[in-house]
Amino acid sequence: MSDREQWSSQSGFILATIGSAVGLGNIWRFSYVAGENGGGAFLVLYLIYVFVIGLPLVIAELALGRRAQGDAIAAFDGPAPGSRWRYAGVFVGAGAVLILSYYSVIAGWALKYFTGASLGHLWDTASEGYGRYFQSFISHTGEPVIWQAAMLIAAALVVAGGVRGGIETLNRFLMPLLAVIIIGLAVFAVTLPGAQRGIAFLLAPDWSAFARAEVHAAALGQAFFSLGIGMAVFLTYGSYMPRSFPLPRSAVAIAAGDSCFAIVAGLAIFPAVFSFGIDPTSGPELAFITLPQVFLQMPVGILLGAAFFFLLSAAALTSMVSLLEVPVAILVQRLAMSRRRATALVGTAVLVLGLPSALSFGLLSDVRIGRHGILDAADAAVSNFLLPIGGILIALTVGWRLSRQDAIAESELQHPWLANAWLWVLMLMVPLTLATILLQSASAL
Ligand code: PHE
Repeated sequence: MSDREQWSSQSGFILATIGSAVGLGNIWRFSYVAGENGGGAFLVLYLIYVFVIGLPLVIAELALGRRAQGDAIAAFDGPAPGSRWRYAGVFVGAGAVLILSYYSVIAGWALKYFTGASLGHLWDTASEGYGRYFQSFISHTGEPVIWQAAMLIAAALVVAGGVRGGIETLNRFLMPLLAVIIIGLAVFAVTLPGAQRGIAFLLAPDWSAFARAEVHAAALGQAFFSLGIGMAVFLTYGSYMPRSFPLPRSAVAIAAGDSCFAIVAGLAIFPAVFSFGIDPTSGPELAFITLPQVFLQMPVGILLGAAFFFLLSAAALTSMVSLLEVPVAILVQRLAMSRRRATALVGTAVLVLGLPSALSFGLLSDVRIGRHGILDAADAAVSNFLLPIGGILIALTVGWRLSRQDAIAESELQHPWLANAWLWVLMLMVPLTLATILLQSASAL
């Protein structure tokens, strides 16, 4: 398709992909999963998985997308047109919609907290405790839906604006700002009295944790979620990439940018948490219950709190935009729909599909799927099944379905040993590792 849009510059493309990777996963999820899994050891394993498994997959997604110059269906269909593999494109498109359906709910919580922190009422509720505040908000029938809808509308407006005018422009503006905010918060946190214990918790590994299988599984799951691989986001963004952009270097920038962001976010969060004598293992509520408490006790905490929740909402927005682009690109290409219509349609579908997640702590709190409530079940389904399956589909397509020469040429990996190592990881290591994780997840059901 010759009239397909392309990124206007390499820096805009890199910022958009880092914007996709950096999200709730780096701040909200990373901090509580690292907290629950022993801090330093988890961080080391997470970094190993990002670079050994994640990076080869990012290269694979970008290469497959750029090769197709089309949507996810075209990318999976490419190696053998007309085969059943094209349904893999439908699968990842639907997967992106499922992720959005609950991700937008949590993004809505962040927006609500940002608004409350800026207008001041978040800080007035301290007397009743943030546990009560958070609980009464998420169990309300209308409120979570309204905030979720607000985030979805924002994301839809950006995507409707197009690849350059919407997505690239937003990320060009927001990503540098977010980097400044997170570094500022970290500098402040590490100079708090008693911060050393938090720094040690994050950076000094407890080696015994390496032997624990569940720490490995958590680190791999976090690497997948945080990079955002397996749901064709990089594949779709890669399809707007001109041949002139260097591919492996872009992938390294994405992996490095995403993991640096997570580490700096950890340096902003754990020193503060330890400095105020709080247990870092408080789970998913760390960002919404523990941290406001911490901000309130800090000098200029109200300002820092507002900055933190802005960061969380904006980081979530850039990730939502990337997820939305996957199904929108499919509808535009397959049904010849206008971008605006496709965005409105997917946005509405996500809102409706997301209602059960938004209501899962209130009206629908009695609904259990296995051990989980609805939102938690959606999150578990995504990290334990959807992303690994997507990862396997991409690894098999690039590793086995493309010819060896074709795959290596598309990857632009110049050194023969690097190219071979990359292919070997895709052909064997990724499918085997992910299949193990899938089996483990299935047996834990
Ligand atoms: N990587 C994003 C985050 O860390 C979430 C995401 C998952 C984005 C899957 C795209 C695909 O928040």
